[in-house]
Parts: sequence; C-alpha cells; structure tokens
Amino acid sequence: MLNKKARVYFSCFMLILGTLIGFLLSKWSEIGSLGWREPDVITLTVRMPENGSLPSRMIYGKPDIAKAPRRDVMVLSPWLAPIVWAGTFNRDLLMEEFQHKKYRIGLTVTAIGKYVKLLKKFLESTERYFMKGGMVTYYVFTDRPDKVKALSLEVNRPLKIITVPKYPTWGHVVLGRMEILKNQSEVLFQQEVDYVVSLDVDMVLFSHIGVEILGELVSVIHPGYYHSPRKDLPYERRPASQAFIPEDEGDFYYQANFFVGTVQRIYQLATACYEGIVKDKANDIQAVVYEESHFNKYLVYNKPTKLLSPEYIWMNNLWRLKDIRIKRIVHGEKKF
Ligand SMILES: *[C@@H]1O[C@H](CO)[C@@H](O)[C@H](O)[C@H]1NC(C)=O
Ligand SMILES: *[C@@H]1O[C@H](CO)[C@@H](O)[C@H](O)[C@H]1NC(C)=O
Repeated sequence: MLNKKARVYFSCFMLILGTLIGFLLSKWSEIGSLGWREPDVITLTVRMPENGSLPSRMIYGKPDIAKAPRRDVMVLSPWLAPIVWAGTFNRDLLMEEFQHKKYRIGLTVTAIGKYVKLLKKFLESTERYFMKGGMVTYYVFTDRPDKVKALSLEVNRPLKIITVPKYPTWGHVVLGRMEILKNQSEVLFQQEVDYVVSLDVDMVLFSHIGVEILGELVSVIHPGYYHSPRKDLPYERRPASQAFIPEDEGDFYYQANFFVGTVQRIYQLATACYEGIVKDKANDIQAVVYEESHFNKYLVYNKPTKLLSPEYIWMNNLWRLKDIRIKRIVHGEKKF
C-alpha cells in the first residue's frame, strides 16, 4: 500500500521535473540562439588580393605553443610589439602574405656631398639583399644629382633622384632629412608606395632583409645601448629642448638611421620631429643627438608597433654579445 503510494508520488514528481527541464531547455536554446544570431546588416571593408585565387599550399612545421622562439632575449615588448631577432620568424610564411597583398615599398636614402660616393656600395648591397622579390622603388635624396647620375648605377628596380637644398653643415643635413620625408610623404609617397623604409647611405647589407621589417611604425634598437639601464641612454635631458625626455621615462634607445612605416605614420613621425627641430632652432638650442633625439622623444609617446633587434644595425667596433646571432646590416664604415 505504502509502496504503491510512493510509486504514484514518484511518478508525479518525475512528470513535474520532466516538464520543468523541458521548459528550461526550450528557454535556454532560445537564449542560445538569440546570443548567436547573426547581425542583420554586415558591412565589411576588406582589401581583397588583386588576383582572387586562394593562396597556394603552405607547408611548414607546426608552431609549438610550449616552445618559446628565443629564451635569451625579449621577443615581445611590454606594449605587445614584436621584437624581431634571428630565430623568431619564418620568412617564407611572411612572404606569402606579402606577395598576396602586393605591397609597394619605397627605400629612401640620403646621399649628400661626399657621401654620394658611398651610394654605389650601398645600392649593390640592397640589390643583393633588400626585399628580394618585392616591389621596391629607390628614392635618393641628394644635393648633387649630377654626381649621382655620373655613378651610372646599375639597379634592377626604379630609382628616383630627389634634389634637396645644399646644406652648409652636416648638422643641417641630418636635421633637414625629416623635412624632406615630411614633404615627400605628402607629394610622392602617398601616391607611389605603401611602406617607406629609411636607411643611411653609410650602411652595407650583409644578409637578407625582408618583409619581417614591415609594419605600421618600426624602429631599430641601438646596438650600443641595448643592454644599458635607462640612465645611460643618450636621450636629451634638458627640459629646454623639444626632445626632452624625463629621467624616469623611455623604453629603448632607437637609432634614426633605419626606420620603417606606412606613409601615414612616417608622415606623422617626420612632421613631429621637424616641428620639434624648428622650435629648438627658434629657441637657439640643438638637441644632443640632433634629429635622433627628437626621433627618440616621439617614440616614447608613440610606441613603435614593431621593433627590430640590433642585428639590423650592427657596428663592427662593438663587442659582439652572444645574443647577436647574425649581423644583417653594418654601418659606420666610412671609407672614402
Ligand atoms: C591569377 O594568377 C594566376 C597565376 O599567377 C594566373 O594564371 C591567373 O590568370 C590570375 N587570374 C586573374 C583573374 O588575374
Ligand atoms: C618643404 O615644403 C615646404 C612647403 O611646401 C617648402 O617651403 C620647403 O622648402 C620644402 N623643403 C624641402 C627641403 O624641400
């Protein structure tokens, strides 16, 4: 008797429980479907590759999430910008993306006065090692276009000579470069290129420099200071200068003889540096490392989106530490 009553109660209980679960499930799926419903209007602006075909097969070893690319050096800045070192990237993989999007690259180089003589060696090395297979245009800023033409440079990529004023001193030359970059970004670069790469003429490339250097705003960590504490970085420390950086600020010391960016970002960088230089001039002060001081100031407050390790500008007079596995570019070999 008791058993039968218990069975009835149990059946009733199960019936109610089942109804409840069914109700909850239906509500849950409603909520679920609401959450996952596609928005009614989708507006996407995606730059499609010019040739609509899919990328070819890409075969390479799978990245291992438990394996850091390098353990001896920082490969990601505290603001999440990658730091490019040998052993941290696969150039073939990067190249695939690059060729698909057909980026146009402008390589600018300043060859003023007797520095014109260094142009031949510089361009021989860029022909060999710079952006193989990329769409590159050389822009030579010079005050001696005839001397540049007389070099009969043999290059396989377009070369444009841009005449700049004859500056009285070397100080004026380096200060004037930001003005030229600013002007040419407005005039030429925004029509002709996607990325600007600015290099100095006293550099020689020794190894391939490829698409790994491209980014919105890219700067190179100076090889002479990359292990230095902040207090030893040669920032401008006088508040009177526009390039002033307080003692407790700054990340790395960057070298101004190699930087990369989109035309927009290079324009902003060059304009800021140029304006700082003009203000300093009006106040009769010259920043401690000329334009490089202004360049460093700008990058403290406008962080680079990618950093290149000192492999990208080495100097032979520096004691080479074991973290430098490869010297890609060497500068400062001024042999006239
Ligand atoms: C896309 O590229 C392939 C290989 O380069 C070529 O054969 C094809 O004609 C291209 N298609 C278009 C639509 O340009
Ligand atoms: C840059 O452009 C400005 C304004 O057009 C001009 O006054 C100046 O001379 C130009 N500077 C150089 C170095 O070309």
